[in-house]
Amino acid sequence: MTKRSYSLTAQLGALFAVVAVMVFSAVGFYLYQALAIQLQDRDDADLVERMLQIRHLLEETASAGSIRLEPHRFLDAVDVSRGLLLVIQAKDGQVLAQNTTERSFARSTAEIAAGSTPSPADTRAQALANGARLRVLNAAGRIGASDEVVHVALARTAHERLAVLGEYRLKVWAAAIAGAVLTAALGYLLVYRGLSKVRALAAQAQQVTAHNLTIRLHAQTAPAELRLLADSFNAVLDRLQSSFSNLSQFADDLAHDLRTPLNNLMVQTEVVFSQPRDSEEYQNLLSSNYEEFGRLARMVESMLFLARADHDQITVGTELLDVKRELEMVAEYFDGVMSDANIALEINAVGEVWADAHLLRRAVNNLVANAVRYTPSGGVISLTAAQVADGVTISVTNPGAGIEPAHLPRLFDRFYRSDPSRSAKSSSAGLGLAIVKSIMALHGGAASVTSERHGLTRFSLWFPSRRP
Ligand SMILES: Nc1ncnc2c1ncn2[C@@H]1O[C@H](COP(=O)(O)OP(=O)(O)OP(=O)(O)O)[C@@H](O)[C@H]1O
Ligand SMILES: [Mg+2]
Repeated sequence: MTKRSYSLTAQLGALFAVVAVMVFSAVGFYLYQALAIQLQDRDDADLVERMLQIRHLLEETASAGSIRLEPHRFLDAVDVSRGLLLVIQAKDGQVLAQNTTERSFARSTAEIAAGSTPSPADTRAQALANGARLRVLNAAGRIGASDEVVHVALARTAHERLAVLGEYRLKVWAAAIAGAVLTAALGYLLVYRGLSKVRALAAQAQQVTAHNLTIRLHAQTAPAELRLLADSFNAVLDRLQSSFSNLSQFADDLAHDLRTPLNNLMVQTEVVFSQPRDSEEYQNLLSSNYEEFGRLARMVESMLFLARADHDQITVGTELLDVKRELEMVAEYFDGVMSDANIALEINAVGEVWADAHLLRRAVNNLVANAVRYTPSGGVISLTAAQVADGVTISVTNPGAGIEPAHLPRLFDRFYRSDPSRSAKSSSAGLGLAIVKSIMALHGGAASVTSERHGLTRFSLWFPSRRP
């Protein structure tokens, strides 16, 4: 089951919208609260101002009775249509002037004495039975210059304030939604533009095919965030290209190296068949063919070994081996060939090595086979083993013409031969050192070579001290 993938651009656009809604809402909420407080403060200050105005009118009034006769002087000071409520009561509770039948706010809060001046902090909140909310200020007022005092109750309904706030709230919501939509659209466009670099890289990557492995992404012009990706992709292409060319080179070499011995077999067989021969000639043909078949079989076996080593299909049974004993066993195998070629061999080895006995012998065997081939008559091949800090190094050294420095880096490659004259005779496949390299890789070790012109050529195998 594959997970559905959404467009990154759409996702980021939606995210922008969510963030915009959150930010706009938070800012809107803050401004709403600030406005509510400011409106209430303004209303409270307004109540105090009107209270002072009513007190002033009271001072100009002769008696409580004249208030009742002329209530309009007082009622005009408060505008009921703007939610202002006024009740003036005599000391005994008798109503002298009022613009409302609501009486619950009168003397419901602490009354400011006639001698002291009210301030906005003296206003109180009060809710009516019908749910309406009021700001209330109760104060006593002195009539004329007399000692007679009346109760003034002044209130303001929150109606007007709430209407303003309600309108404001709607505007904030509208702005938040519009802002979110706008931010989402702009975010989408910006991200789409920003991702154009990714699309450009993808377009470059699309050009890469098996026949077009030289193409690389333009990492230098990519944005910093994508440069690492482009570099990594290019590195992958580098490795692919090198593996790919190795592979086709390998197939080339393989075809070429199999063709020569097969051609030899065909030609010599055809020549013998071209006319009647006696049995001795047929026998010679068969034994020559047998040799050729043997080399073909060895070559196929070597290639199979390399392929299996490449795919980790070779089990390495490492054990602690006595190096000297192992080297002596290899030397023994070459006794006959060396005495024929008048070549001597000396062994100088001590200590033990962690290795697979069979693979170690095969590697050293390949090196000695080469050494025997390139050592002039009368030469001495030396097999040495020495303990080094992190393992054991086994070396095969032989005198001879030496190897040109230009060949050294490729010597361990498959089918690589430094002297074409010899390979033309198809006496060697050029796989021996490739197998040595594979064996050392299986052990977690390494193979190396040094060579002097007309001096000593030394191949060294380093085995790490612990089991791989
Ligand atoms: N001791 C040596 N002295 C000089 N040249 C060497 C020596 N060992 C290897 N070489 C060069 O390295 C080449 C590669 O060696 P390698 O063992 O891989 O292949 P080969 O010996 O030619 O063939 P194979 O081992 O498969 O029969 C040889 O062809 C030879 O040119
Ligand atoms: Mg060889």
